Amino acid sequence: MIDARIRSMFPPAGDVADRVDSHWQLLLVVGSVVWLVVVTAMLVAVLRRRRAEREERDDDVPGDEPGRGHLVVAFLGGVAPALIILGIMADSVLTLRDTGAATDASRAPVVVEVDGRQFWWEVRYPDHDVETANEIHIPTGQDVRIELTSDDVIHSFWVPQLAGKVDLVPGRTNVLTLHADEPGTYWGRCAEYCGLQHAWMRFVVVAHDAPEYAGWLEAQARPARSPDRVDDGDDQPGGDETGGDDGPGAGPDTEVAAGREIFMSSSCVYCHTIAGTEARGTLGPDLTHLASRQAIGAGVLPNDRESLARWITEPQDVKPGNAMPGTELDDDELDALITYLESLE
Ligand code: CUA
Repeated sequence: MIDARIRSMFPPAGDVADRVDSHWQLLLVVGSVVWLVVVTAMLVAVLRRRRAEREERDDDVPGDEPGRGHLVVAFLGGVAPALIILGIMADSVLTLRDTGAATDASRAPVVVEVDGRQFWWEVRYPDHDVETANEIHIPTGQDVRIELTSDDVIHSFWVPQLAGKVDLVPGRTNVLTLHADEPGTYWGRCAEYCGLQHAWMRFVVVAHDAPEYAGWLEAQARPARSPDRVDDGDDQPGGDETGGDDGPGAGPDTEVAAGREIFMSSSCVYCHTIAGTEARGTLGPDLTHLASRQAIGAGVLPNDRESLARWITEPQDVKPGNAMPGTELDDDELDALITYLESLE
């Protein structure tokens, strides 16, 4: 599902991307015109030279008188390039100003912190106490201020259809504005070589209209659902919940509970957080709402049972060099663990 997507800056899908696109169009047009003029001038020069040589041979008359050509050379070779380069520079500076950091944080109502890791993306919504990974949800029609940091090496954040690239540099915070006009899913990736799995450091930006975005934020801010909590007072947001799980003790819940037990008693807890449980690790992605995500391993596998099983048992085969060690479990344990992970919506 992931490889089939075309990653291209066309068509641009928001204000910032539009500005980059118009700068690109300018470069294309100016570059094409310059190329045409240069090639034409070259051809004319060659042809004239040949004709002059022929005429010289025929009637022994010297060719063009020198002098007039110098003006043409001075203009085409000096003045015109200088004007063109100055013009392009001016538009580059204006493009940078328009697309770059909305350094004034108040201009962007939505703030998302993105931390580059080898080889995945930690995503935090500081105003909402939400943390996720490899998936950035934004509202449409608004400037979103992305604050980019890195704890290990230099990465680069790139969502071709929404904005230009900005590096994540250890020790500093860089800022980028994202703006999506229409709801949709936009692919992003790391654009700076950062190690063995640089190519599999991918993410998606999902743009929602305002109510849907609010709903997503609210769902992500809740602690993980767990079999322990089925009973206690989790039923006030029941408005949009379909009446699926009615009552404790049902079969699936038992397996979820067993899987939860396996998670909490294995090494998983040292690296992963699941809000509302004792799992508080920070080395790997927060798994509180893992089941709501499209992919795992920063885009390397779709998020389904089979892929989760591969990822848990042989992550180094799937994505060599990533930080996750394999976990040895028998089939029943693995099944229960995956059922638990799939309950984390
Ligand atoms: Cu991170 Cu390339």
